[in-house]
Amino acid sequence: MLKIGVFDSGIGGLTVVKALNQVIQNSKVFYVADTRHAPYGEKTPQQIQNYSLDIAHYLVETYKVDALVLACNTATAFAITELREQYPHLIIIGTEPGVKPAIEQTKTGKIGVLATPATLQGDKYQDLVQRLPKEKKVTLFEQACAGLVEQIEKGEVDSESTKVLLTPWLLPMKENGVDTIVLGCTHYPLVGDLISSILCRDVVLIDTGLAIAKHLLACSLKKNHQNVGNNHLHIEVTGDINEESVRTILGKTINIIPISISNS
Ligand code: DGL
Repeated sequence: MLKIGVFDSGIGGLTVVKALNQVIQNSKVFYVADTRHAPYGEKTPQQIQNYSLDIAHYLVETYKVDALVLACNTATAFAITELREQYPHLIIIGTEPGVKPAIEQTKTGKIGVLATPATLQGDKYQDLVQRLPKEKKVTLFEQACAGLVEQIEKGEVDSESTKVLLTPWLLPMKENGVDTIVLGCTHYPLVGDLISSILCRDVVLIDTGLAIAKHLLACSLKKNHQNVGNNHLHIEVTGDINEESVRTILGKTINIIPISISNS
């Protein structure tokens, strides 16, 4: 059985867990929602790195995982390099805003990028943007969405207050003919319907969950994983969590275990 440690600041990474469940079989997923420290996207790079390293250490030591999935764009931006150095024997897969698939899909050449403030400011995203393929001319409309993760964590995925937050951010995208939006935070697929309804037209929303799952499958097959069998999911949380949201995302009730991770 492939043992996969997955973490995020909260419920967002469960959008990635759903994709893992579609693609990978014969697995045991150990998911940590670090709600005690959410939102990561409004913390300092050092804090984000510390939280991520602590959780990874916990997953490796406690569950002896074979793979780590950073189901969080923000954690990936500030911790994946260190994690790969610390655990060279593990499969380590991060999450990055899907700007490249957006470039392949856009017809108007106008792409919106929604992400946390930390992700957009981080070197990883800046490098990605500097090294975009030059064949197609595109304009990126970037928006840091401070406060959106908290709304989603509260379960407010279609409330008036979330709409009020999103509407002015989406206005320049709407006015400039954006036809493709990169959801650069794993929480944002949970407000995908609201985003589409505010834009009032067909916009392609790019979420990278399936790409991550396929990448993990390819890496694990190389290590002789047998992709036939049942999956198990174990969820732990470092603070409060909206259990109703978890149930809605996963489509079933699951026992959620409170934990505390020593260093953080
Ligand atoms: N889901 C995260 C991401 O993809 C977390 C954001 C946050 O906690 O601010 O970036």
